[in-house]
Amino acid sequence: MIPGVPGESQVYLNGEFLRVDEAKVSVLDRGFIFGDGIYEVVPVYQGNAFRMAEHLDRLDRSLAALRIAQPFDRSGWIDLIRQLLDRTRLDTCIVYLQVTRGVAKRDHPFPSPAVSPTVFGMVSAWTPPSAAQRAQGLGAISIPDERWLHCEIKSVSLLGNVLAKQQAVDAHVDEVLQFRDGFLTEGSSTNIWVVSGGKLLAPPKNNLILEGIRYGLMGELAAEAGIPFEARRLAQDEVIRADELMLSSATKEVLPIVALDGRPVGSGKPGPVYELLRAGYDARIAAL
Ligand code: PDD
Repeated sequence: MIPGVPGESQVYLNGEFLRVDEAKVSVLDRGFIFGDGIYEVVPVYQGNAFRMAEHLDRLDRSLAALRIAQPFDRSGWIDLIRQLLDRTRLDTCIVYLQVTRGVAKRDHPFPSPAVSPTVFGMVSAWTPPSAAQRAQGLGAISIPDERWLHCEIKSVSLLGNVLAKQQAVDAHVDEVLQFRDGFLTEGSSTNIWVVSGGKLLAPPKNNLILEGIRYGLMGELAAEAGIPFEARRLAQDEVIRADELMLSSATKEVLPIVALDGRPVGSGKPGPVYELLRAGYDARIAAL
């Protein structure tokens, strides 16, 4: 028994569909030994994967960054996702995909000759944020970003993110805002958005943040709603004085942050720019 995971859940591991409690990975898997692997989290609404092409594009980029061989072509990934969804029979859920460099004698360099990557997929039950969460908004705290300098790779080496998120839990808030050298980077597992003077602002896409699949989407939604959008470095005092803050991720969608470090953000309530972007996000889901 794995606490919190129904035993009958079907997962995919290296060519087989198995019960989750039967799926086993070698102790010498480089994902286990070194965190040497990548992953994706794809939200699914009523059986339809949202922005799947963009998620698979990012999976390709992450594999290329780690020089791990691509285990499937595009149609192979789509087929795997479809089979996982068919077997799990969950309508609204999360598809998790993970590829590690594979199993080899413990040694830091890449195994030579290369070994087969370990490929894992699972579907998890998921409930999108509730109406109450949307209406109440979230709380966050500011912390220094202590992670490495390749945050653009969606790597399973998530210790920095795990420790950051635990700081939020310990402070009884929902998320952290990380700052590197005094400039906003991102949340522990979310991208962060700032509204100032009617403009939507976000840190630039570079090695200091993960380019969320919702990063591009928020830009599109802002354009549709006539909200000017600018990606630039955001100093901590500008973030503290923001009219609105929000976060985005596959699992949190887009949610307002109404308190930062115990002080209200703007009016202390979800703001008008959030409401417009939220409506746009809902419309995209409804159109799936
Ligand atoms: N996290 N930044 C980080 C560090 C993240 O881990 C995530 C997503 C995002 C947002 O990316 P997207 O819009 O593609 O979900 C930004 C996922 C949900 C996770 O690790 O569970």
